[in-house]
Amino acid sequence: MYMTTSEIRSAFLEYYRSHGHEVVRSSSLVPVNDPTLLFTNAGMNQFKDVFLGKESRSYKRATSAQRCVRAGGKHNDLDNVGYTARHHTFFEMLGNFSFGDYFKKDAIHFAWGFLTGVLMLPAEKLTVTVYQTDQEAYDIWNQEIGIPAERIVRIGDNKGAPYASDNFWQMGDTGPCGPCSEIFYDHGADIWGGPPGSAEEDGDRFIEVWNIVFMQFNRKSDGSFEPLPHPSVDTGMGLERIAAVMQGVHSNYDIDLFKELIAGAAEILQVSDLSSKSLRVIADHIRSCSFLICDGVIPSNEGRGYVLRRIIRRAVRHGRLLGAKEVFFYRLVEKLVALMGEAYPEIRDSRALIEKTLRKEEEQFLRTLDRGLELLSGELSRLGDSKVVPGEVVFRLYDTYGFPVDLTQDVVRDNGYTVDTAGFDSEMEKQRKRAKAASNFAVDYNSQLKVAGTTEFTGYDRLEDEAVILNIFKGIESVSAVATDEEAVIVLDKTPFYAERGGQVGDTGLILGGDNFEFQVTDTKHAGNAVIHTGKVLLGEFAVGDRVCARVDASARNAIARHHSATHLLQSALRKVLGDHVTQKGSFVSGDRLRFDFSHGEALTVEEIRSVESLVNSYIMADLPVITAVMDLEAAKATGAMALFNEKYEGMVRVVSMGDVSRELCGGTHVSATGNIGFFKLISDSGIAAGVRRIEAVTGVAAMEYTALMSQELEKSAGILRSETFGVYDKVVALEQHAKDLEHQNSRLREQLALAEARGLAGSVVSVNGVKTLVATLDAVQVPELRIVMDDLKNRLGSAVILLASVNSGKISFIAGVTTDLVSRVKAGDLVKFVAAQVGGKGGGKPDMAQAGGTDTAKLPQAMNSAAGWLEEHLG
Ligand code: ALA
Repeated sequence: MYMTTSEIRSAFLEYYRSHGHEVVRSSSLVPVNDPTLLFTNAGMNQFKDVFLGKESRSYKRATSAQRCVRAGGKHNDLDNVGYTARHHTFFEMLGNFSFGDYFKKDAIHFAWGFLTGVLMLPAEKLTVTVYQTDQEAYDIWNQEIGIPAERIVRIGDNKGAPYASDNFWQMGDTGPCGPCSEIFYDHGADIWGGPPGSAEEDGDRFIEVWNIVFMQFNRKSDGSFEPLPHPSVDTGMGLERIAAVMQGVHSNYDIDLFKELIAGAAEILQVSDLSSKSLRVIADHIRSCSFLICDGVIPSNEGRGYVLRRIIRRAVRHGRLLGAKEVFFYRLVEKLVALMGEAYPEIRDSRALIEKTLRKEEEQFLRTLDRGLELLSGELSRLGDSKVVPGEVVFRLYDTYGFPVDLTQDVVRDNGYTVDTAGFDSEMEKQRKRAKAASNFAVDYNSQLKVAGTTEFTGYDRLEDEAVILNIFKGIESVSAVATDEEAVIVLDKTPFYAERGGQVGDTGLILGGDNFEFQVTDTKHAGNAVIHTGKVLLGEFAVGDRVCARVDASARNAIARHHSATHLLQSALRKVLGDHVTQKGSFVSGDRLRFDFSHGEALTVEEIRSVESLVNSYIMADLPVITAVMDLEAAKATGAMALFNEKYEGMVRVVSMGDVSRELCGGTHVSATGNIGFFKLISDSGIAAGVRRIEAVTGVAAMEYTALMSQELEKSAGILRSETFGVYDKVVALEQHAKDLEHQNSRLREQLALAEARGLAGSVVSVNGVKTLVATLDAVQVPELRIVMDDLKNRLGSAVILLASVNSGKISFIAGVTTDLVSRVKAGDLVKFVAAQVGGKGGGKPDMAQAGGTDTAKLPQAMNSAAGWLEEHLG
């Protein structure tokens, strides 16, 4: 029974809906609040916390068609795409879920009912697997469903197993997991391959179409398994695979949707062989790339963005293989939207962004792709008998030509080569070290200073504290005491001084020992578990063991806190104005300003800057309470707090909330209510890397100073322009127009002057061998006017050889002209070269008109004089 991909998707959801399941929309490909997961890779991801018992929903049964990407991370199919009939970077997973409701029996009966009762598949085409020791599942299949023993295969969890089979499903290294039972479809004896668990299982004959997971455990990060609160069910059926079955084809790439995408790609690339592997790769990749961009990922050099970049570059390379000469990949988006926009309207809405992003990335890569490929083929031909591309070559391709390692792998794979990834990694490591060495020519004080003690930080809620001196250093040498005027580093047992971290600068202030002992702290940093206060003794002396009072400069600390809190509000405003793809890439916070780096593809428009600025100021005026709470990471994630992707958080974390506007994991110091920030002023927006922008801004006193300076500038300008402050712009526009008019007038006047001078020159014409020649130096005439004079002289003289020179701001310009009747005897280019060479210049042009420059003005008269002799010789 033929069914289209869309019909199958609807039939599935409808079947489970009619069995009491809530139909839930696909979640984003970027997992929300789950740093353990690169991309959404299964239908169950969005229900992870429900399985774990941390979240409850209004339903206990759910069904979904979930968009998934398996490229990078635990489940990675990128390398298989194009080489098998059934692997994709992007695919749709149909699934049904039970959260502590039904278990093995119903899950199996439901699946069987759908396959044989709705899709009408013949039972004898289906083979199933169960987990090695799962007798319960075995009996359900065998006794209740009636599958004969020879079509039920027991499979373990792949520890020491000879083949790739694995009947214990895990989402990632941690999270819900359990034994599973899989259903395979037999595509028939004319396709190579064997049943699951056999040596031929990797072939395309027996294809796994459905995986039913009996969720029973939570795998912890230490590798142990903890039982889930309730046994649950998670299933997944690959839509593309079941569509192949229903459409009577043996490859996913032959189903309706892929046929259309492949035909679309073939048309764009003008390829006639529709069976090309490269077309399959392109058709696969356009789906993952488009949906990833739609879900907020942008190409970059790390994390998710780098996976996206790798997939795009691979598609671009395959387009090249098919003869693409120009940017092509983005043109396939239209077709994709036509095919999938109905089921996923979000992709229709993001079409423009997707096209623009793909186009930009392809353009960028095309600049280096050919040269990289050339280098690679040169290297391959030098390899001789070896079939391994050295790490150093792979690294050069990566570093200079932007070839991700897997792209290089993909290029050489068809010729039987592999790449030395270990060698590549070690080259990467070397580069990291070089970069580090280069950025540290100043002595890295912290890495030299070895401090054994531990300092307790007490500065979140106080700015002054009593403490004992644990250590004193002069330079890197430990000493027992320091005297007046000496510079030193002091280590205390506890301190209210914040040590530089997370982009926030260290505190400044004083360490006091009684009335006449004062140490000025100019910076505070971490060294091991200790905090080091760097500064100078102003009064008295300090010794190890002294009791002191550490006092942070409160106004400096407040200024820093204002900027830090404003950074959180800024991030929230940016996400609101630009979209959820905005994530923090770096930040720097001091008392004078803040700098915030974030992912975004292009410069902000004037309106966007205004919206961001006024949004932040509205949050400030709302005087939102700033509340910090310490909790474990799981609890923090449950509050929806934003964390830095790739950052390792251990143990308890601190969550800083500002009303409902912002919630972030953060160890920094903040104002107590946003009103304290006073005022926020954005100073600049600039690009610092592909896809990364930097905003600089000021708050509080620094913002007041900044705006005061700005209005001073404006008032000074108004004064000079004799304008009202708010009339400056109109005045400048009018002035600029006036200047243009004057320039125009001026150039017409210069022309007229030059022509007048030309008329005067006619008298200096001399005859050389019967040819009229004119050699003259004009006074400060610029090149455009020299040309006019030249044309005028040629017209006037009818037949002549002319050489003109003029000096403007120390630079000589020559122009030579020969009327057409004489070009067979002498060339303007030769003449001008001969003369210019004598004043340190070069030039050339056409036989009838040539130009040159020169610098040595002292030699100009002599050079011009030499022209006569040269002409005599050449006109002879
Ligand atoms: N979560 C299971 C899978 O992805 C169903 O195979």
